[in-house]
Amino acid sequence: METKSLFKKSFRAKFNTEADVVCHAPGRVNIIGDHTDYNDGFVLPAAINFGTDIAASCREDEFVNVIALDCNEESVEFSIEDIQFDDTYSWSNYVRGVLQVLKQEFPHIRGANLLVSGNVPQGAGLSSSASFEVAVVKTFAELYQLPLDGIKAALMGQAAENDFVGCNCGIMDQLISAMGKQGNAMLLDCRNLTFKDAPIPEGISLFIVNSNVKRGLVDSEYNQRREQCEQVAAYFKRPALRDVSLSELEAAESMLDPVLFRRARHVVTENLRTEAALSCFQNADMAGLGRLMRQSHASLKSDFEVTTKELDGLADMLNEALGELGGARMTGGGFGGCVVALAPTSQLDVLQNTIDELYFTKFGLNADSYVCSIEQGAFRAI
Ligand code: GLA
Repeated sequence: METKSLFKKSFRAKFNTEADVVCHAPGRVNIIGDHTDYNDGFVLPAAINFGTDIAASCREDEFVNVIALDCNEESVEFSIEDIQFDDTYSWSNYVRGVLQVLKQEFPHIRGANLLVSGNVPQGAGLSSSASFEVAVVKTFAELYQLPLDGIKAALMGQAAENDFVGCNCGIMDQLISAMGKQGNAMLLDCRNLTFKDAPIPEGISLFIVNSNVKRGLVDSEYNQRREQCEQVAAYFKRPALRDVSLSELEAAESMLDPVLFRRARHVVTENLRTEAALSCFQNADMAGLGRLMRQSHASLKSDFEVTTKELDGLADMLNEALGELGGARMTGGGFGGCVVALAPTSQLDVLQNTIDELYFTKFGLNADSYVCSIEQGAFRAI
């Protein structure tokens, strides 16, 4: 991504006018609590130093003109009075979807010129799409002084993804992109959207390793998992799996289809682990956190079945190297993408060497790794 002044200069060169605003929304990594958000459960993500930048100016007509700097400078133009899905430039559907939602809520908004640039690795489970959606919401909020807080902004981004793009995702990614706090992860209750900051202990780093297996089958498998969870909640006649306890679930095992039972067991136990993780953060209990992260990975592997052999291999290598000093697990939706580790900064070299020595030999692929800082969300004030 370009620096702010270079970015403004590029905007001027492309649109022949000054940018009124430059907005940014971060991607995220989820430290623990996967496939729990759409079950009204708990997640513990953090906003990271990868994200989407948008330079923008208002237009007096109803057209939105977008240039995507990192997609070969492809450009699209559409009218906010008639927003259609675009099969050719699929990236533009995030802008179109958000505009459709914004226009319903704020009918007075007009068009805009947008220059977009992002550096969240795509298809890696680090929420490039949520960061794009939240950046578009933020840009229009600034351009047209829309009365939006971070929660409302996140819900709008999610609505765009659910109703326009077609992925039935939960609220985690957009919410953390909007409301993350620098230096802190966040324990988020996805039912009532309240959250607590989870401070990263002194001397601990966030290490993310991209398996470089692009996420595949994401939407179909994801939507199927969600339906399976909803079936079990319906069996218990409860609004969501959040409302089913582990003992209730275990008592009903023989009545449930074994696959559905395992899916639900993942969600119910993952909620317990995620809530427990908060006190590990507060007490700098890295051994405890490491244990929860390992259990989470095992559950996503065996009960929820969303890992790949590469993700399993990476998590094993990192956990072995870390011992009681920290932990690693897959992060996000799964079926490819990244593993996240929390580790003492002094151990990062050891972890990197481990990956360099083992990953290619075992899987014939190179992994990319990133030491990430934890950043502020687009709508978080302090
Ligand atoms: C994707 C979705 C999120 C969440 C995760 C899994 O990132 O967008 O809403 O469900 O998968 O935890």
